[in-house]
Amino acid sequence: MADVHDYIDQNLPRFREELFEFLRIPSVSARSEHREDMRAAAEWLYEKMRAVGLEAMIEETPGHPIVVGEWRGAGDDAPTVLVYGHYDVQPVEPLELWTSPPFEPTIRDGRIYARGSVDDKGQLYLHVKAAEAHLKTNGQLPVNLIILAEGEEEIGSANLLPFVERNADRLAASAVVISDSTMFAPGMPTIGASLRGLAYFEIHVQGPAQDLHSGSYGGAVVNPANALARIIASFHDENGRVAIEGFYDDVAAAPEFVEQIRSLPFDDEAFRAEVGAPALGGEAGYGTLERLWVRPTLDVNGLLSGYTGEGAKTVLPARAMAKVSCRLVPDQNPKRIQELFEAHVRRVAPEGVTVTVHALHGAEPWKARLEGPVYEAAARALEQAFGRAPVYAGEGGSIPIVPAFERILGAPVLLMGFGLPGENAHAPNEWMSLENFEKGTHAAAALLTELGVRG
Ligand code: BES
Ligand code: ZN
Repeated sequence: MADVHDYIDQNLPRFREELFEFLRIPSVSARSEHREDMRAAAEWLYEKMRAVGLEAMIEETPGHPIVVGEWRGAGDDAPTVLVYGHYDVQPVEPLELWTSPPFEPTIRDGRIYARGSVDDKGQLYLHVKAAEAHLKTNGQLPVNLIILAEGEEEIGSANLLPFVERNADRLAASAVVISDSTMFAPGMPTIGASLRGLAYFEIHVQGPAQDLHSGSYGGAVVNPANALARIIASFHDENGRVAIEGFYDDVAAAPEFVEQIRSLPFDDEAFRAEVGAPALGGEAGYGTLERLWVRPTLDVNGLLSGYTGEGAKTVLPARAMAKVSCRLVPDQNPKRIQELFEAHVRRVAPEGVTVTVHALHGAEPWKARLEGPVYEAAARALEQAFGRAPVYAGEGGSIPIVPAFERILGAPVLLMGFGLPGENAHAPNEWMSLENFEKGTHAAAALLTELGVRG
């Protein structure tokens, strides 16, 4: 199989150029003005899949299209591997904080800077190139392969779930491989051991019919911004615990995780410096990795109310809004958390304003079983590509479709991510390491070999 890896080494500059083309398409799923760009990204990927020899299809959904590439030449007795990724990206604002424009990929310090470089276009595309390396050198793949790319991961994957349900037979696989997560540290290949779930809400607070003079009316009319601040303040107690009744009821103990966390080298001060915060903080009684991987959270993601322009304007705003997300851990359930959240807000909402809660997207938490032939194959592939055995680490983020893959397809999900701490996913100056794009491509190609060999 050495020729497969030679092929990757020889063609890497072209792979990179192609990835740059992909990154230039502003496929922001959350924004309706990017609808056509979403289609352009799907079509670009479709063409690239065809070019490497996959049978490709664009599948329409009520939202953004799904792209499926298939190769079935290994025969019915060979295993089938389903690679999943997403071609949509997060919005780029605030634009002024980008050093180079988000959709003009730029290399600096061994990194590709662009929106979507690591989340997830780079990590998705390296699987297409790994398939190419096999097909162009051997005329075949060691396994049957399906590459499934969606355009709505960053907005909750609502249309992918029914697609997977409807196409369960076609998507049947013995392993699901996903590269959409981060390595624990540079040079340390990582298998993701868990994902947190998500429950996302908007709180709207309506006061008077319109903004009022804060002198003529202030003090006699309930201020929606003040009211919202009180609601938000009620979400945590003084120990940093979420104060919503019942919030922790379904949190499962994770003793083996705590063991694992202890075995990983982690430096709080380096982490603090990486995020640039004056100090770290969170739920009392837990270390940083526990807070990130095995504890649920509640965070305000955005706030809107009143006058925020230059200087002082004396005004009592008519309304206020907050976007709030809870990261969930096994065995919490997003629907149940929604009920508890709504009940809590109803209970603490001050008189004199109208408070409404809207639930946006959600995702179930997930935990890997971390055993069996797929995980063994992954460990060998990662060791070949990176020169050392992988570590197993939790992931604080969410990939909504993952639990459904296991439930509907009955196949284990493998998180083999090539992002790095500090990669600025969802933030200005997102980057992917060039070295990880290269080693990730080798690892993805080696994984196909390993999964083929072991049947
Ligand atoms: N790649 C991330 C998920 C991720 C982040 C995995 C960090 C492991 C570590 C993915 O693209 C993402 O951002 N997902 C969203 C899902 C949400 C919109 C439902 C998330 O976690 O916010
Ligand atoms: Zn993301």
